[in-house]
Amino acid sequence: MNIHYLTLFPEMYEGVLNASILKRAQEKNIVAYHLVNFRDYSLSKHNKVDDYPYGGGAGMVLKPEPVFNAMDALDLKNPRVVLMSPQGRPFDQKMAESLSKADDIVFICGHYEGYDERIRTLATDEVSIGDYVLTGGELPSMAMTDAVVRLIPGVLSREESHQKDSFSTGVLEHPHYTRPREFRGMKVPDVLLNGNHRLIEEWRMEESFKRTRERRPDLLDDRN
Ligand code: ADE
Repeated sequence: MNIHYLTLFPEMYEGVLNASILKRAQEKNIVAYHLVNFRDYSLSKHNKVDDYPYGGGAGMVLKPEPVFNAMDALDLKNPRVVLMSPQGRPFDQKMAESLSKADDIVFICGHYEGYDERIRTLATDEVSIGDYVLTGGELPSMAMTDAVVRLIPGVLSREESHQKDSFSTGVLEHPHYTRPREFRGMKVPDVLLNGNHRLIEEWRMEESFKRTRERRPDLLDDRN
């Protein structure tokens, strides 16, 4: 998979893409990350990327030319073009699964007040990572990259498998414990120590549903 980031701040990505599982996915040649500073595609004298809004008002608007020119320069195969915006569809695990099957993903990351409306015609998806406003689309695109790349076959080892993730199963994960059996007076539940796998499975399922009911009843409504 090729992932392209159209951004004015490519330096923001260095630490995130070059650590842990995102780095490993790149080393295994499962993904390649491409950072494109679309300021380089501005045709104006001072590499302007934004301008005053027609009709007046506060704030600046991202110009269409640099973004369109940067897109034109990419060699893409059936891409998903994701415009990062708080007005977009809320990102979720289903969308991550769907994106993990793409050959090319382009993240368009705006800053400033907003996009010239014509930039929206480039996008196959307009996505928000939550009901709060960030200073730009870079952090959201990195969060989405993390959620997507770990789902690509071969990226996670068997031990790291995502099959039981919260949201893949539709319920939150059950509690986990490791050694020691007792820590600062807090004990591991007996059922996990008795080696009865049927009882352990039952306990985990009950805890999963209990936790989901308490914390995210909306997930159970979604499943009917
Ligand atoms: N850009 C600014 N805020 C955002 C958000 N919540 N989601 C996606 N992109 C954004």
